[in-house]
Amino acid sequence: MRIDIITVSPELIKSPFEHSIIKRSIDKGLVEVHFHDLRKYAINKYGKIDDAQFGGGAGMVLMIEPIDKCISNLLEQRTYDEIIYMTPDAKTLDQQMANKLSSAKNIIILTGHYKGVDQRVRDNYITKEISIGDYVLSGGELAAAVLSDAIIRLIPGVLGDETSALTDSFQDDLLAPPVYTRPAVYKNMKVPEILLSGNFPKIEQWRLDEAIKRTTSIRPDLLRNEENQS
Ligand code: ADE
Repeated sequence: MRIDIITVSPELIKSPFEHSIIKRSIDKGLVEVHFHDLRKYAINKYGKIDDAQFGGGAGMVLMIEPIDKCISNLLEQRTYDEIIYMTPDAKTLDQQMANKLSSAKNIIILTGHYKGVDQRVRDNYITKEISIGDYVLSGGELAAAVLSDAIIRLIPGVLGDETSALTDSFQDDLLAPPVYTRPAVYKNMKVPEILLSGNFPKIEQWRLDEAIKRTTSIRPDLLRNEENQS
């Protein structure tokens, strides 16, 4: 998979790709991530990429021309499955969206800043808009890093143990059950007996029961999703 990220702050977004699982997936050649500094496509030699909004109002708006030039340059080189715009006024990212996007070959992620981008960009270039939650960040860079991480870890071969992504929270509309590791007793705090029993069908049932309990108490809306789908 190839991800092209268009941003006004390349330095802000690079770090999450330089560590741990995401870095290893890039080193292994499972994913390529390229950063494009929007200022390179500025409309003048002073690096202008934004302007005041028509009709008045606070905040600067990213102009269409630099974005058009940057996206057109990428489209000349390859086709893209999706051109995504990160913005709080969009559908919220969930595991199902991440699953779908993880099978794409090439995607572009455009990050907004200030008051956002000229609406004509959204109307004519963007194929999908994604929010990472009902709160406003100072830019879309961190949101693009979150989206990229959620997608990349699902690409086959990225996680050592293939089953570990399948048992994540949300994969089946349930939060993940509790997990424990050694020691079995610490300062009189005990691991549930069942997990030490070696009875794997019973352990699976316990995990499912715990996942349902946790979901019912913290995110009952997920259980309603499940009911609505079946
Ligand atoms: N840009 C600013 N806030 C955002 C959010 N919540 N999700 C995606 N992009 C954003």
